[in-house]
Formats: sequence, C-alpha cells, structure tokens
Amino acid sequence: MIAFAQYLLACLSIASYVSATPLHLTKRLTRGVQTNCKAGHFALTFDDGPYKYSSRLIDHLNERGIKATFFVNGNNFWDLDDDIQAQNVIKKAYDSGHQIASHTWSHANLDELSNRQVENEVVRLEDALMRIIGVRPSFIRPPYGNSEDRVTHILNRLGYTVVNWSVDSKDYETHSLSDEMHNYHRELGSSHDSKGGIGLQHDVYKQTAEELADSIIDYARERGFKFSTVAECFNEAPYH
Ligand SMILES: *[C@@H]1O[C@H](CO)[C@@H](O)[C@H](O)[C@H]1NC(C)=O
Ligand SMILES: [Zn+2]
Repeated sequence: MIAFAQYLLACLSIASYVSATPLHLTKRLTRGVQTNCKAGHFALTFDDGPYKYSSRLIDHLNERGIKATFFVNGNNFWDLDDDIQAQNVIKKAYDSGHQIASHTWSHANLDELSNRQVENEVVRLEDALMRIIGVRPSFIRPPYGNSEDRVTHILNRLGYTVVNWSVDSKDYETHSLSDEMHNYHRELGSSHDSKGGIGLQHDVYKQTAEELADSIIDYARERGFKFSTVAECFNEAPYH
C-alpha cells in the first residue's frame, strides 16, 4: 500500500514536471557565473524593474514579437508587497511569454551579506513571485554583477543559474543612444556565427524603454541574431 502510494506520487510529480517544462528546455542548472548566450542567439534583458516604463515596454516588445527577460526586484523602484500596479506589470510580462528572473528582493550587494541574508534576499522574492505568477525563477542576476564564489555556491544550491552579461549598454550613464549603441557595435559587431550575446539594460529609464530597446532589436536582427530568453540561451527551464 505504501509502495503504491509512493508510485502514485512519483507519477504525479513526473506529470507536473512534463506539463510545466517546454520540451526543449530541461530542469537543471549550470554552475558558476554565465556571461553569454549560445552562438547565434541574443538575449535582451532588463534589470531593476518593475517600474512605470515597464508596461509600455512590454507592449512594444509584444508588438515586435520579441521575448525578453526581466530580472526583477521585490523592493527597488517599486515595492511588490503593497503595489498592485507593480504586481500587474510582472503578471503582464509573464502572461505575454517574457521570462521573469530574479535580481534579489532589495537590489542588495550580495557579497556584503551573510549566507543567511543572501538566502533571504532570494527566497523573499521567490515567495512574492509565487503569489503573483505561481512560479519560482531558475535564473538570477546578482546586483552590480557581484557574486563571489561563496555567493555563487549559495545561489546554485538554491536552484539558480547565475547570469551576468556580455554587452553592457550602460544605459544608466548618459541616456545617449549613440553612446549606448556604440557598446553594442563593439561587442556584437563581429560575426554572430561564432558568438552569442546577453545585453544588459534597465527598464527603469524612459529612454531605454522608448528608444534604446528598439534600436537594439533592429541592430541584433540586422546582424542575423535569433532572439532568445535567457533560459533558452542555456536550454534550461525558466522556473523551478
Ligand atoms: C560581471 O561582469 C562585470 C563586467 O564585466 C564584471 O565586473 C563582474 O565581475 C562580473 N561578475 C561576475 C560574478 O563574474
Ligand atoms: Zn540592478
């Protein structure tokens, strides 16, 4: 009887595994810190939101048929705990097929936190996302790109692939399109056959949402890149 119950449970967990995971993506993680997408693929990523420009950006990405990845915070520009608007933006991105990934609860510099505090930063956001969209992300980008070995081990143990970036648009600096695109020309200018790209932007800036995103999409398309979510870059399931 007990064996039968265990058998039933095993079937149930296999069934939920299969239904929650697209066939080409598997549930596993890559250890260490990842900086690039597979060759020929480009992932458009946005950090630090949600914020007031995110919703319009999502509409625009949807109009252009691009799936992006949002590394969201719980309490940065907006607070997910008491802001329905913030929750709705995340729901909208998720429902449109964009990937929701973690950027910690409070945009903390994880290298400066204790093991316990690192865990809290991750789990608190997971719990909020669980309530809003019913999933826990499998990808995290540590704020400031700071993830010493100790932190990376904790994040891996919590089920995360840790992702940095290969192109930094520096959209937080000048908000000048030509400066930002110059960073793209430098990093993605050579053949896409041999390299991929993960581009770092922030959907908390008007210029990023209304101007830069479009320009990057045009450029990456022109260079022959295929757009991927970060999960697709690694053929891994976006949620666990
Ligand atoms: C992420 O990339 C930035 C810029 O290249 C670098 O300074 C930082 O050390 C990287 N982070 C990790 C954990 O490798
Ligand atoms: Zn950030």
